[in-house]
Amino acid sequence: MTAGPGGHRGVLEVDDLTSGQITTVLDRATAWKTDPGLVPAGVLSGRGIAALFQKPSLRTRVSFEMAVATLGGHPVSLREQEVSLGARESAADVARTLASYCTAIAARVFDHAVLETMQAAVSVPVVNLLSDQAHPCQALADLLTLRESWGELEGRRLAYVGDGNNVAASLALGAAMTGVEIVLASPPGYELPEVVVARARHLGGVVELTSDPIEAVRDAHAVYTDVWTSMGQESEHEHRLAVFDPYRVDIDLMAHAEPDAVFLHCLPAHRGEEVTDEVIDGPSSVVWNQAENRMHAVRALLVELLDPQRPQ
Ligand code: CP
Ligand code: NVA
Repeated sequence: MTAGPGGHRGVLEVDDLTSGQITTVLDRATAWKTDPGLVPAGVLSGRGIAALFQKPSLRTRVSFEMAVATLGGHPVSLREQEVSLGARESAADVARTLASYCTAIAARVFDHAVLETMQAAVSVPVVNLLSDQAHPCQALADLLTLRESWGELEGRRLAYVGDGNNVAASLALGAAMTGVEIVLASPPGYELPEVVVARARHLGGVVELTSDPIEAVRDAHAVYTDVWTSMGQESEHEHRLAVFDPYRVDIDLMAHAEPDAVFLHCLPAHRGEEVTDEVIDGPSSVVWNQAENRMHAVRALLVELLDPQRPQ
């Protein structure tokens, strides 16, 4: 993990947090979701938090802005067209400028290395709002959703069907750190990168890879999928449609999972591609709670990063 000049660490990937911090984030998210009166509404009073987006966003931007607002802070959202990261100004200079006004910098970028450059340039925490490699804020919301669905995380089995992408990477690391077994089914050539698998196993995780979606979902207590074509890969769309066709999550595939298995998707969904309407709109789907949980999880994360001395 890249640390800033002041040694301050942000969250570029889930394992930039300790397991204890993840538990704290999930516990606070649950407590504040259950009783909004417990939210520390003034904790970011008078402080600005920058959120820079090189790619489109619905959930991440709105949940992040509302998290900051409900903590009493001021969210400053910026789009790529306004900043032209790396063209109008270098990523390091953008970060230095934002850090002079704001208590933290969050960013959604194409290239994960840009986040590392930003964190190395500043002493405020940098938070990854999605890069080509990772989506840690999504994974925290996913763990929160799974814990709500299952009661506890430890010892449960999660199947991820589809592209071994940014969402899959953060999910695998988050699962490894919370005692959730994960099995990922991807077409050959689209598996979770070996370096991520090794990192998750090093954290003590049970991580299995297969190319067979039915094998993956067998005995699974949850089935997760994401788009086949991520932002930035649009030119590969037609090819990916053909490659991933056997990996669609439909009613037939869900029937091979545990009878009470839940269905998750980070959204946006490409209905009819990676998931059918029957599944995403069906009784096992928890995607709307998962989307809501983006706000609860990131709010708890911001407090963990910006008010580290806070008692439990
Ligand atoms: N899941 C997610 O990150 O959604 P957005 O791309 O809409 O922010
Ligand atoms: N893997 C997707 C996630 C979108 C939230 C992407 O990167 O586009």
